[in-house]
Amino acid sequence: MLCSLYSVRRAENDDSFLLDYRWQPREEEEGERMLVNTKELLEDAEKNNYAVAGINTTSLTMLRAVLEAAEEEKMPVILSHAQLHEPCAPMEMMAPLMKEAAKRSSVPCALHLDHGTTESYIYKALSLGFTSVMADFARFSFEENVERTRKVTEVCHEIGISVEGEYGEMPSNVEGQGRALPEGKTLEYFFTKPEKAAEYVEKTGVDSLVVSFGSVHGIYVEKPAMDYRRLGAIKEALPDVPLVMHGGSGLSEEDTRKCIDGGIRKINYYTYMACEPAARLPEYIAGFPKPPYFHEICEYAREAMKERAAYAIRLFKNRGQVRSGYRQERGRAGMENRSE
Ligand code: 13P
Repeated sequence: MLCSLYSVRRAENDDSFLLDYRWQPREEEEGERMLVNTKELLEDAEKNNYAVAGINTTSLTMLRAVLEAAEEEKMPVILSHAQLHEPCAPMEMMAPLMKEAAKRSSVPCALHLDHGTTESYIYKALSLGFTSVMADFARFSFEENVERTRKVTEVCHEIGISVEGEYGEMPSNVEGQGRALPEGKTLEYFFTKPEKAAEYVEKTGVDSLVVSFGSVHGIYVEKPAMDYRRLGAIKEALPDVPLVMHGGSGLSEEDTRKCIDGGIRKINYYTYMACEPAARLPEYIAGFPKPPYFHEICEYAREAMKERAAYAIRLFKNRGQVRSGYRQERGRAGMENRSE
């Protein structure tokens, strides 16, 4: 169901919101049949043991690269916008582009808010036509995480929007993202506890769950130690809930497959794709007879990112080998991959 949010009033002195909203169902517009929510996509992934790529798109160039990759691979895709990227890609400007891209797509797409860290931003995403949101409140106590997520889920479900919750925290090598590890703690401090995960899902009603068991946002600075036993226990506690893994770029193919076989149905992917053009551009620019126009640089970058996105989407299909010379590409990208 596609709806419009009429009013969310912000409280005057803090970041809270007042639920003074009205929803108006509207008719599906021409071409919107490819715009789906994440729940539908993950149900199919669950049935067929693969993972859908959730890829952040912070520009038109990137958006087109991701969509073309998904179309080439004939796979659905989750076009994501992270709240963290608001300064470089304001959501109000990105949303119409993302929606138009989804409308033109030949494969099913969800428009997903990644890491919505405040209620006001999440509700703004709904008003802009996103079909799925992540309620990122894992930095709070378990009780507060549950309560905030539950409220968001209630509103979202009323209008057919799917919600990704997070219990356990995602470690990050990206500046400004995630909490730093407390002194003397190892990564395990952030990991999802299987027994609490079921309680979290039951109390919040989320449609899918981000679980933390070894992957990290950003470039891997050391070989990830994935806790597959923990993933197995979480899946056992939540057999019907699609599990989500963030920090999916830079993991080895073997690890990625094991995660999918262990129940991961959505994999978030960004860093290694977004870093791809930088490594290739110096050579490209040096070989140019004149200073290239910016649009020429963008087109080159689009091709580079499309290759990387297609590689990931192919890998997430979880069907046989995908080693199509990508290791060389990785070498060129100058990103030594510590995960292999
Ligand atoms: P990477 O940093 O591994 O690409 O993960 C992105 C992500 O999880 C966004 O939510």
